[in-house]
Amino acid sequence: MGKLDGKVAVITGTTSGMGAAAAWLFAKEGAKVVMGARRFERGEKMEAEMRAQGLEALWVTTDVRKPEDCFNLVEKAVEAYEKVDILVNNAGINGEGSYAFHESTDVFRDNIFKTDLYGIFDCCKAAIPHMIKQGGGSIVNVASVAGITACPGDVLYSTVKGAVKQFSIGLAYNYGAHGIRVNCLCPGLTNTEMGGGDLEGSEFADNILATLPLHRFGKAEEQARAMLYLASDDASFCTGTVLVSDGGEIIS
Ligand SMILES: NC(=O)c1ccc[n+]([C@@H]2O[C@H](COP(=O)([O-])OP(=O)(O)OC[C@H]3O[C@@H](n4cnc5c(N)ncnc54)[C@H](OP(=O)(O)O)[C@@H]3O)[C@@H](O)[C@H]2O)c1
Repeated sequence: MGKLDGKVAVITGTTSGMGAAAAWLFAKEGAKVVMGARRFERGEKMEAEMRAQGLEALWVTTDVRKPEDCFNLVEKAVEAYEKVDILVNNAGINGEGSYAFHESTDVFRDNIFKTDLYGIFDCCKAAIPHMIKQGGGSIVNVASVAGITACPGDVLYSTVKGAVKQFSIGLAYNYGAHGIRVNCLCPGLTNTEMGGGDLEGSEFADNILATLPLHRFGKAEEQARAMLYLASDDASFCTGTVLVSDGGEIIS
């Protein structure tokens, strides 16, 4: 018995990191997983690998900056599996290095807002009508500890992630009556393409790690398990929850 037997889960940003780990974990827990991101070679390969292991998976090339792609992702899930029980809004980018806010461009600002925030709005807009019709659903939005504290050198990232957190609380309040739970995961530094993995072993990373209570970066699989908890019936009484999964980064 898997924790997600019979469930249909749409997950964005599945071509690497936490989203890839979540797709594998959710499928192994019995979900039919519908995966969206831009790098289609990776996505198609992963779909094939999952199916070869007897897991149920569907790849849909998706750029969450495009509203039509967000709606298409959800519609493809409903076409294939007739419903959408779970939506994990995981796709995201950061500022890729330090910058001074007053020198940042509007193009950069629009890109991060479209990817990390408006993409979540559009996936939610697409999924919620189906969840209302079904009598419920579970949405997990991936923000960041940077949405709670400041993010050194990346003001816009902490701004959008703070908005994702607040959006999750607002949705939870307004859609609870429809049986829709909405929760927010705030990961800390995690060993992924975006996270600090490529820095491991450097003096810069060692200095950061020395300040963290667990003295290590998180693993994508650890964040995937936190997503699974929030998405599954294990968290059946949790809505509007902001789950910090950061190895103590926020308290250090
Ligand atoms: N790693 C950390 O330390 C950390 C800490 C806190 C929060 N987070 C958050 O955790 C989430 C997952 O990040 P990660 O660490 O796993 O990073 P990652 O390995 O870089 O994964 C990011 C994923 O988002 C997808 N993505 C980016 N832009 C997209 C777009 N326009 N449309 C669709 N998909 C897009 C990427 O796929 P494609 O490039 O193929 O589109 C990729 O699959 C993000 O929301 C991130 O902000 C990460």
